Amino acid sequence: MLDLKIVHYPDPVLLTVAKPVTEERFGKELEELVDKMFATMYQARGVGLAAPQVGISERIFVMDIPNEDGPSQKHAFINPEILHVEGEQVGDEGCLSFPGLYQQVKRDTRVIVRAHDVAGQEFELDVSDLAARCVLHETDHCDGIVFLDRMSPLKRQLAKRKIKRLQNTGEWE
Ligand code: NI
Repeated sequence: MLDLKIVHYPDPVLLTVAKPVTEERFGKELEELVDKMFATMYQARGVGLAAPQVGISERIFVMDIPNEDGPSQKHAFINPEILHVEGEQVGDEGCLSFPGLYQQVKRDTRVIVRAHDVAGQEFELDVSDLAARCVLHETDHCDGIVFLDRMSPLKRQLAKRKIKRLQNTGEWE
């Protein structure tokens, strides 16, 4: 399989609802894709990466959130489904498809998510804070929603202006 390349906004794949992963898709090739997604994410120093961000319109994302008190929250999510949300957090968010852009986004504080792991096993996770933010952000990618869409109108306008500036100076391709 070819190496993966992170696509940048406004690549149309980022704005497309991704297809569910079917049962037949599980196997060696899917495992390799997930491994490569983790490697691509680590190389880019991200904590989450969704398949549409590497040009693959499938409902898959990987996440690795460091944890001071123990092992990191490292998971691959295939066909993620948000089952429950609660609370509210406001914080800075970035996205590997928006290089250099950080903006405040309001998200739920706690999320219960159901997905399949790369072996096809269903699991549920109850996550909070940064992990909840990440799960929501990456599940949005599977739905063709980018974090720009989650900003307040004013912040979105500022972000779009900054993107245009970076595009004009060739810092954003
Ligand atoms: Ni993102």
